[in-house]
Amino acid sequence: MSKRALITGASSGIGEALARELGRRGWSLALLARRHVLMEALAREIGNAVAFPCDVSDFTSVTDSVRKAEAALGGPFDLVVANAGIGAPTHASKFKANEAEQMVRVNVLGMMYLFDAVVPSMIERRGGRFAGMASLAGLRGLPTSSAYSATKAAMQAFLESSRVELAPYGVGVTTINPGFVATPMTERNRFKMPFLVNVNKAAVIIADGLERGARVVQFPWPMSLLMRFTRLLPNAIYDRVMIPYGRRKSDPSKVKR
Ligand SMILES: NC(=O)c1ccc[n+]([C@@H]2O[C@H](COP(=O)([O-])OP(=O)(O)OC[C@H]3O[C@@H](n4cnc5c(N)ncnc54)[C@H](OP(=O)(O)O)[C@@H]3O)[C@@H](O)[C@H]2O)c1
Repeated sequence: MSKRALITGASSGIGEALARELGRRGWSLALLARRHVLMEALAREIGNAVAFPCDVSDFTSVTDSVRKAEAALGGPFDLVVANAGIGAPTHASKFKANEAEQMVRVNVLGMMYLFDAVVPSMIERRGGRFAGMASLAGLRGLPTSSAYSATKAAMQAFLESSRVELAPYGVGVTTINPGFVATPMTERNRFKMPFLVNVNKAAVIIADGLERGARVVQFPWPMSLLMRFTRLLPNAIYDRVMIPYGRRKSDPSKVKR
């Protein structure tokens, strides 16, 4: 019997491409997001897949749709990917807490609600893998991305702690840190996105990492190397590099696309 995977945010972008890729590799799939019609069409295309509407920022919606998905596919999940996420530019000079709040609800709480709904059964079964779609943007605080970077850094810390805590139970945890991937989310960006990755290529890299049980999946390598290097920079040097970059990023007229 094929293994069961659940993906949130499967109605577009990385989640949709990952669903197709895992479907091709023989996984049975549960697709969760708010745009149910899109997912129903995707589920039909994939074949061995079911779709349920879910708002990940609502705890009851997450637990209800996970239970329905388990019932529909005939058992608990071997792989669960907390992929649903939103991102919007922020700037300290125009900061609005309510805009940041929604990102925290979807990106951070959404992942934790899903974790709560699926990990107890993984512990009981002494198996399974929980993965979170964080971002290279969580490795340092990036200009115009304070709230987004903060949600992704929170995800990374949560997933890392959980990975260590769940290892004795035989439950795996994977942190996925993509760089820029061409999806509806990044289509809105007005600044130049270095090392932009095609979404289907991203899905193959992520599926490979999940299937081999990687702790961290980080790509593309030049962007990953660059971000890991920035972590080594002293704060004063980081600021000197980032202040002009932040100015250019928030003034798209000065940036070549
Ligand atoms: N694209 C990139 O460059 C990039 C880089 C690093 C990390 N990421 C992360 O990758 C993930 C996917 O992003 P993407 O680029 O594929 O963007 P996308 O195409 O906009 O997809 C976002 C997905 O999240 C779902 N979603 C948003 N709010 C939701 C909610 N409240 N409840 C349930 N589902 C919700 C959307 O579905 P509905 O609207 O149908 O609910 C959609 O399926 C995000 O976590 C993002 O932060 C993206």
